Amino acid sequence: MKTNEAAIDSFWSDERIADYEAAMEKVIEEAHKIDQEYYAKTKNHPIRFVEKRRKTVESITQKLERKKKSTDKGLEEVIHDLAGVRIICFDTEQIDLIAKRMSMAKQFQVLKVKDYVRNPKQNGYQSYHMILEVDGKKVELQIRTILMDAWSSLDSILVYKKADPISDQMRTDIRKYAKWSRKMDKMVTNMMKQKTGDTNCKK
Ligand code: GTP
Ligand code: MG
Repeated sequence: MKTNEAAIDSFWSDERIADYEAAMEKVIEEAHKIDQEYYAKTKNHPIRFVEKRRKTVESITQKLERKKKSTDKGLEEVIHDLAGVRIICFDTEQIDLIAKRMSMAKQFQVLKVKDYVRNPKQNGYQSYHMILEVDGKKVELQIRTILMDAWSSLDSILVYKKADPISDQMRTDIRKYAKWSRKMDKMVTNMMKQKTGDTNCKK
């Protein structure tokens, strides 16, 4: 593996920060637009909150190590989540709606999709991932429900990317948490449908 530490350390120049922040802002702006349009039809806001982050130098270094990737081709070619936006909504239908609207937005190009909602990871992780290209910059968009976010936040504290091994009991409990969350999400989706009267806002 070949990495250029100096290039990683100096990656976040003021200019790059400005470019990536602007790209993330465009995604967030689109999210607010989708939220407002849905609200106009249903009087319910589908989006609970939106987060964004730029990957730290430490995290970039760890990812390159973990994936045994070299930066020869340029960091932006090998790491696609240098900028990340996360949209937290209430139910799974809203995930589909937001994903569909994001992919229809002319200012974004969808480079990759990973549907961990329909295909959850072995450990129980669920979320809908899109890599969007915005003005030549890649932004990883994660769309998930509040319960998926609760699960994933806990998993991040207890397990994900942690060096210490976890007990079998812990692994079982985390899977159970994911399984119950999926059931609860189905219930929430049904409740939301009743509330919004299954409007035609998916179109
Ligand atoms: P990373 O190296 O973690 O960025 O993963 P990746 O680039 O191979 O891609 P993937 O789409 O699988 O994961 C991207 C992001 O999804 C991660 O950075 C996390 O934010 C989240 N994620 C994926 N899997 C898990 C998981 O098992 N647990 C938790 N808590 N988050 C996950
Ligand atoms: Mg990541």
